[in-house]
Amino acid sequence: MCGIVGYIGPKRACDVLIEGLKRLEYRGYDSAGVCVYHAGRLHIAKSPGRISELEKKIAEDPAIQCGTVGIGHTRWATHGEPNEANAHPHCDLSGRIALVHNGIIENYAPLKRFLSDHGHVFRSETDTEVLAQLIGRFCQDGAETLEDAVRAALSEVGGTYGIAVMSASEPDKLVVARKGSPLIVGVGSGEYIVASDASAILEHTTNVVYLNDNEMAVVTRDSLRTMTLDNVPVSKEVEQIEWSLEQIAKGGHEHFMLKEIFEQPEVVKMCMRGRVDLRDMRIQLGGLESVTGALLRTKRLILTACGTAWHAALVGDYLFEDLARIPTEVQYASEFRYRNPIVEDDTTVIAISQSGETADTLAALREAKEKGALALGIVNVVGSTIARETDAGVYLHAGPEIGVASTKAFTCQLVVETMVALLLGRKRLLSQPVMEQYLRELAAIPDKMQRVLDKAEEIRKIAEDYVDRDNWLFLGRGYNYPIALEGALKLKEISYIHAEGLPAAEMKHGPIALIHEGMPAVFVTPQGPTYDKILGNIEEVRARRGKIIAVASEGDEGIRSCCDRVITVPDCPVALQPMLTVIPLQLLAYYAAVARGCNVDKPRNLAKSVTVE
Ligand code: F6R
Repeated sequence: MCGIVGYIGPKRACDVLIEGLKRLEYRGYDSAGVCVYHAGRLHIAKSPGRISELEKKIAEDPAIQCGTVGIGHTRWATHGEPNEANAHPHCDLSGRIALVHNGIIENYAPLKRFLSDHGHVFRSETDTEVLAQLIGRFCQDGAETLEDAVRAALSEVGGTYGIAVMSASEPDKLVVARKGSPLIVGVGSGEYIVASDASAILEHTTNVVYLNDNEMAVVTRDSLRTMTLDNVPVSKEVEQIEWSLEQIAKGGHEHFMLKEIFEQPEVVKMCMRGRVDLRDMRIQLGGLESVTGALLRTKRLILTACGTAWHAALVGDYLFEDLARIPTEVQYASEFRYRNPIVEDDTTVIAISQSGETADTLAALREAKEKGALALGIVNVVGSTIARETDAGVYLHAGPEIGVASTKAFTCQLVVETMVALLLGRKRLLSQPVMEQYLRELAAIPDKMQRVLDKAEEIRKIAEDYVDRDNWLFLGRGYNYPIALEGALKLKEISYIHAEGLPAAEMKHGPIALIHEGMPAVFVTPQGPTYDKILGNIEEVRARRGKIIAVASEGDEGIRSCCDRVITVPDCPVALQPMLTVIPLQLLAYYAAVARGCNVDKPRNLAKSVTVE
C-alpha cells in the first residue's frame, strides 16, 4: 500500500525521505517520488519501479539534494497505471504546491470536471492530482495560508486520505491531515518527520504524535500545531514508539519472512508475558478488564477479519466454542457490512488484524459498533486505527511484521484467542485443574515451536523436491482445517503455485476430481479425534497416485507407511495444535518460493496493509 514520508529540519531532506521510503518498501508499491523545496521553487523527482530508480534521478538533480524540507511517497496504483505521471507528489496548476496522498478521493470525477471547466489541465489520471489542484484553486481564490486552503479543499472531498502538503510560498511548513488513512508526526530534536508508518520515523526519533481521523497538523521548523479539520485546536500527547530499529532489520536472515518465522518462539513468549500467569495459575489481560463483565454476558461472538487473520478467526471459532462454550461465528470483514448483519444485544464483535489498518476490517468494526455491539480488537500495531476504535482489546506484541506474508502475527493471534477463550472459559465452565493444564501447555509452546523450526532443513528438501508441481491440496480437520487453508494461502501468495485448502472430508464432494499422479496433497494430521478419519482421506489420494506429505505427531510411526514424506510436530492439546502445525506449512511455502526465485518479502500484486476496500 502507499506510504508517506515528510521532513522538515536541518538535514538534507532527500536523504531522510529516501531512507524513510525504503523503510516503507515492505508495504508494497509500484512507483515512488519526492518533492523538495530549494531556492524559491519545488523540485520533484518521480519514477515507476523500485526506489533505486528514484535515487538515480535524485543523483542527477543538484537542487533536490540541497533542500531541507520535503515530502515523499511510495504509490500502490489504484487510479491509473504505475507510471511516472501518476506517481506522487502531485502539484497544483502553478507548480508551487505539492501533495502526497494515501487513500482514495471518491468524488474526484465531479471535482475534476468542475476544475477542468475552470481551466485546470491535468497531467495524471489520479484522484490525488484533483485534490492538489483543488488546494491550489483555494490558494488562488484568496485562502490566507496553506492550511486554510487545505482545509477548504478537504471540506469538498469524500473518501479517505492521509496527506502531506507543502508550498513554495510557505516553504518552512508542512501541512498534514488524515481521514481513514494513518499519519504520525515524529518529534525529533530540531526536526519533524511525518509518516504513514512508524518504521519510517524510528531512525530519527521514538517520540511521536498520532493524528486521529478528521485531524490535521501544521508542522514548521520549530513548532507542531494540531487541530480538527474544522480548525478547533487539539492538544496531543507525545507518545513513545516501542519498536526498535533492530527489530525492523532482517537480523541476519535472507528474508524478513524467514526471520519472522524463526522469531515465533520469542514473540509468542512476549505475547504471553505477564498474561499467562503460572504463579497464580490464571490469565490476566489488562486490555479486557474494563469489559470482562460485558464479555461474560455475551451470547454470541462474531469474529471478523481478512486473509490470514481470517484463518486465525476460524481457529478462534473452535477455541471460543470449545473452551468457553460461547456460540461463535466467523465473518469475512469484506462481506460483513454489506449483508445487513444481525447484531443483537449481548453480541460481541472481535476484529482481528495484524496491521490494524485493513480497510474492510475497519469498516466491519464500525458497522458492528453502529449496531450496538461490544467491539474488541486483536491487533498487532499499537496505536493503529482499529486498535483505537475498539472498545477494548488485546495487542499481539509480535513486533513489526515486515514480510508481506503474515506468519508470526498469525501465531500470536492464535495465542491471544486462546488466552481470551481460557479467561472466559474459566469464569464460565472450565475447572481449575483443566485451566492449569492448559496454562502449562501454553507456556510450553515456544520450546515446541523451536523443535519444529529445527526441522527447517528437512522441510526445505521436501519443498525443493515438489516445487515443480503446479497444483497442491492442503487438507485438515477440526482445529487443523483452518491451518490447511492457511498453508494453501501461504504457498500461493509467495510462490505463485496454485493451491487449495479444504476440510479433508470435503475432498470427496468434488475436489477429488483434481487428484492425479504426482499431485502433492499436504495432510495436517496430528493425533486427535479425527485422526482415524483422515487416514481414510489419505488412502483416497494414494489410490489416485497423489503424493502425500503429512504433518503428524512425533512418535506416529504408523503414518509413515502411507505417506511419501512426514514432518513431525510435538504433542500438545488439540486446541493448541494449530500454533505448531502451521510452522511446517510456513516453511514449506517459504522454501518453495525461494526455489522458484520469487521475491518472498514482496510478492507480486500484494500489499502488506490493504487500506483500500
Ligand atoms: C497473508 C496476509 C493477508 C493479511 C490480510 C489482513 O499472508 O498477510 O492475507 O492477513 O490482508 O491483514 P491484517 O491482518 O493487517 O488486517
